[in-house]
Amino acid sequence: MRGGRFDVGGQAVIVTGASSGLGRIMAGGFAGAGCGVVISARREDELAAVADEIAGAGGHVAVEAHDVSDPASAEALVARCRTEFGRLDGVVLNAGIATAMPAEDEDMDAFVRVVDVNLNAQMRLASVAARAMIDAGSGGWMLLMSSILGKRAGTGAGVAAYVASKGAVEMLTRELARQWAPHGIRVNALAPGYFPTAMNATMVSGPGRLEAMIAKIPMGRAGQPEELVGPALFLASPAAAYVTGTSLALDGGMDAW
Ligand SMILES: NC(=O)c1ccc[n+]([C@@H]2O[C@H](COP(=O)([O-])OP(=O)(O)OC[C@H]3O[C@@H](n4cnc5c(N)ncnc54)[C@H](OP(=O)(O)O)[C@@H]3O)[C@@H](O)[C@H]2O)c1
Repeated sequence: MRGGRFDVGGQAVIVTGASSGLGRIMAGGFAGAGCGVVISARREDELAAVADEIAGAGGHVAVEAHDVSDPASAEALVARCRTEFGRLDGVVLNAGIATAMPAEDEDMDAFVRVVDVNLNAQMRLASVAARAMIDAGSGGWMLLMSSILGKRAGTGAGVAAYVASKGAVEMLTRELARQWAPHGIRVNALAPGYFPTAMNATMVSGPGRLEAMIAKIPMGRAGQPEELVGPALFLASPAAAYVTGTSLALDGGMDAW
């Protein structure tokens, strides 16, 4: 309902990692709910396809292709959102990568890269966005992208870099929420369980691996990417006005088990 507690219409939102998977779905979800969205990732062709989809459905979208580990990307994204839509209400810090290897053979260059993309880049964009929100006196919100693997250890293949980065995102969410609450900026995290995307395709390929993954989910099925949209919109809406510093598990009950 327009103007209701769950209405996010008219907001301007940045979504990173919007070229595929969960980011692509969330960008479409925010646009479908009436937000202007700035979508970002590295692959320009994929971003163009997402933008076409959104615009074709009547949504407002702007494309900014960047590598989030480029320090200049944060300023560019915030500036584009403000010039395109005249405001900045929210940021979905979704871009992420993962590696899989035994920790005793950890490739430290790859480890550093995972932490840089999954943690440092989120911090950089959150900081630049918060500065813009504080200067505007407008308040706002942020959604950091955590994971079930930010709350507990992995299973199967070794994911030391990934769990380290996502565990840090869990604590960063709390600290940023504490620091920016006086400015009216709410900071929460989404912690998905298993949603089939490009990122985890190899993890479940091979005999019995998908079944083993599903067996760990009390609801007995993978999440559908669309199932992220409702919780994300809720956390962006006035209905969540008193919700900050939390990490919402979206995992069919995995974290409860
Ligand atoms: N799928 C799951 O079950 C699951 C569970 C828990 C958490 N998550 C989290 O959800 C987020 C999205 O993952 P996904 O599953 O949707 O995977 P995905 O389909 O592989 O999407 C990852 C996105 O991040 C972007 N990205 C990666 N590195 C980047 C960089 N250096 N600069 C800019 N963009 C970059 C990719 O775009 P480009 O390649 O075009 O740059 C892509 O749009 C990640 O943070 C992930 O950790 C996913």
